Amino acid sequence: MIQKKSIFWRVFLTFIAIVLVSHLVLNIAYDLLFQHSLENMHRNSVHFQSHAYLLGLASIISIAVSAMFAYYLSKRITAPLRELNRVALQIAKGQFDQRVTINTHDELEELGHTFNDMAQALASLDQMRKDFVANVSHDLRSPLTSIHGFATAFLDGTVPDERKRHYFTIMKEQTERMMKLVNDLLDVARIETGQFEIRPITFNLSELVRQVVARLEPGFASKRVNVDLISEENQDTYVFADPDRIDQVIVNLIQNAVQVSRQNSSVEVIVKKEEQAVVSIRDYGPGISQEEMQSIWERFYKADKARTKESGTGIGLSIVKHILDLHQSPIHVESKVGKGSTFTFTLPVALKMENRK
Ligand SMILES: Nc1ncnc2c1ncn2[C@@H]1O[C@H](COP(=O)(O)OP(=O)(O)OP(=O)(O)O)[C@@H](O)[C@H]1O
Ligand SMILES: [Mg+2]
Repeated sequence: MIQKKSIFWRVFLTFIAIVLVSHLVLNIAYDLLFQHSLENMHRNSVHFQSHAYLLGLASIISIAVSAMFAYYLSKRITAPLRELNRVALQIAKGQFDQRVTINTHDELEELGHTFNDMAQALASLDQMRKDFVANVSHDLRSPLTSIHGFATAFLDGTVPDERKRHYFTIMKEQTERMMKLVNDLLDVARIETGQFEIRPITFNLSELVRQVVARLEPGFASKRVNVDLISEENQDTYVFADPDRIDQVIVNLIQNAVQVSRQNSSVEVIVKKEEQAVVSIRDYGPGISQEEMQSIWERFYKADKARTKESGTGIGLSIVKHILDLHQSPIHVESKVGKGSTFTFTLPVALKMENRK
C-alpha cells in the first residue's frame, strides 16, 4: 500500500520542529548567559533551581500554545488544497457544475481560477458530447423509422404494386441520407484526431464542376431546382488542390443551395479565372442574417431548427471550412435576407499539365 503523506502533517510538523528548536536554543542560550553574568548566584542555590524550573514550565506552556497555533495555521494553509481535492473528486464523478472558492489573494487563488476555467472547459466539452449524441441519434432515427415502416408494409403485403417503386425510391433516398451522415461523422472523427489530410495535385477544376453538377442533377430534378453552370472562360481552369476534397466542398455547397431554394427557382455555379480560380455557388433562397452568419460554420448549427426533417445535421459547412483551411483557401459569403446567398472560394491556379485532360 502506498503510504499517504499529508501536506497538513508536513506543515504542522515543520511548525512544531521550529518551535522545539527555538525553545532548545532559548534554553541553552539562557543557561550559558546565566553562567557568565550571574557570578554571585550559586548554581545549586534554591533561587536558581526554582528559576530554572519556572523557565522549563514557561517553555512547556509556550510549546503547547504554539502547537495549537501551528495546528490552526496548518489547517488554514492547507484548506485550499483540500477544497481543490474535494471539487476535483466531484468533477471526476461527472458533476461539471462544481467550482472552487479560494480567497487567499495569492498563487493558490490563481490556481483556483485556473482550475475553474478547466472545469468550465470540461463542462462545455461534456455538453458538446451530449448534443452530438442527441443530434446524431435524432438524424439517424428519422430515416430508420421510415425505412422500417416501408419494410413492414412490404412484408404485410399492403403496398400495391404500382406504389412499390415510389416507396423504394424513398427508401433509397433515406439510406443515402444515412450514408452521408455516417461519412460526415467519419470526417469529423478524422478532423478531431488530426488524421484528415489533403493530397493536392494539378487537376481540371472546370471538368470537376461539370461532373459534380451532372452527378447531382437527378436530385435537383425531384426538387424542381434548375442548376446552371456558368463559366466565363473559353478554356478550362486548372488548379493545384485535392480533387476529392474540392468535390466534397462543391457538393456540400450545391446541396445547401438546392435545399434552401424554392421549387422552380435556380442555383448558379460560377467558375472564373482571375489571379486565382474562383468558384461561386449562388442561390435565390431565404438568405442568411447577420447573426446567423457567425454560426453557420459551427458544427451542428442549423439556422431553422424546425426544418430539421428537410435539412441535414449541420455538419456540412464545418467540414467545408476545414477542407478549405487545409488548402489555405478563403471562403466568403454574401447574403441578403429574402434575396439569396453566394458562397465563394478561391484555389491556386496551376499550369495545365500536358498529360492531363
Ligand atoms: N445557401 C444557404 N442559404 C441559407 N442558409 C444556409 C445556406 N447554406 C447553409 N445555410 C444555413 O447554415 C446551416 C448549416 O449548414 P450545413 O451545411 O453545415 O448543415 P446542413 O446543410 O443543415 O446539414 P448537412 O450539410 O450536415 O447535411 C444550414 O442548416 C442553414 O441554416
Ligand atoms: Mg449542408
